[in-house]
Amino acid sequence: MKILSDPRKINQLIRRAKRNGKSIGFVPTMGALHAGHLSLIRQAKRDNDLAVVSIFVNPAQFGPQEDLKRYPRPLKNDLALCRKEKVDLVFIPEDKMMYPEGFVTFVNVEGLSGRLCGAARPGHFRGVTTVVTKLLNIISADVLYLGQKDAQQAVIISRMVEDLNFAVKIVVMPIVRGNNGLALSSRNVYLSKSQREEAQVLFKALHLAKLMIRHGQFNSSRIIEKMKELISRKKQAKIDYVAIVDPKSLGPLKKIGRDCLVCLAVKFGKTRLIDNLRITCG
Ligand code: PAJ
Repeated sequence: MKILSDPRKINQLIRRAKRNGKSIGFVPTMGALHAGHLSLIRQAKRDNDLAVVSIFVNPAQFGPQEDLKRYPRPLKNDLALCRKEKVDLVFIPEDKMMYPEGFVTFVNVEGLSGRLCGAARPGHFRGVTTVVTKLLNIISADVLYLGQKDAQQAVIISRMVEDLNFAVKIVVMPIVRGNNGLALSSRNVYLSKSQREEAQVLFKALHLAKLMIRHGQFNSSRIIEKMKELISRKKQAKIDYVAIVDPKSLGPLKKIGRDCLVCLAVKFGKTRLIDNLRITCG
C-alpha cells in the first residue's frame, strides 16, 4: 500500500496505471474509518484493478462554529484498516496543499446545496463539491464510491458530475448500521452513553414512516408529525428537520408517490446526526 501526500505524485502514479489499462475505484473520506467506509472500500476493490482512498478533513466544508478542530483523526488506525482491506493507494494531503495561499475558486451546485442540511450549514456543500472536484482532478478515477448515509451529498455530487461532464461513474452504497439501528458515523464517538441510546429513535422514526406508508398514509405532513412526536420523547433530542422529499430534486413532497426519501437531522447535545430511508411503493 502506497501512502502519498503530494497531489502531483499521486496524479502521476494514477495516470501511469491508467495508461497500463488499470481501472481506478476511488473512495473519498475524512478518515476515522468505520464499517460504513469499509463497505465502500470493499466494493471499490471488487470492481476495479486499483482502489484509492483519500483521507482529508476538509476545512472548506466546516462552518466557523462546527467541529473541524475536534473532528477525530485516528490516522494510525485508519492506515491499518486500509492495509487490511488491501487498499492500493492512500492519499493524505495537507491543508496547504489543497488550499494554498491565494485559493479563491469554488464549485457550487445551485439550489440543491441550500436544501435540507444546506439550510442549517450554509457553505457546507460548496466545500464538499469543491474538494470532490479537486480530488477527482487529482485521482481521475473511473468509479467514485459514495454512501447513501449522506443522501443529499450523493445527490449533489451526482448532479455536479453530470452538469460538469466529469468522466466518472458513481456508485452509491447502502447505509451500514450498528446492531441498534444507529447509522455508523465518525461523529458517533462524540455521543455520551445516554445520547447513543436515545439516538436509536432516529431509525425507529424512519421505520415508523415506512410503516405508515405501507398502511396507506400518503400525506407527508401527517407522517412527519408522528415522526417528530416520537423523536421529541427523547430528552436530549433537538430536531433540525424531518422531511419527505423527492429523491432526485430533494424538493418536499406533499403527497407521497412511488418513490420518496425520508430524511432527518437531529442534534443530541452538540452532535448533529443525520439519517434517511428511501421508500418505494407499488
Ligand atoms: P465521510 O463522512 O468520511 O464519509 C466518506 C464516505 O463514507 C461518504 O460517501 C459517506 O456517505 C460514506 N459513509 C459514511 N457513513 C456511512 C455509513 N454508515 N454507511 C455507508 N456509507 C457511509 O462524506 C465525507 O466524508 C466528505 O464529505 C467527503 C465526501 C470525503 C468530502 O470531504
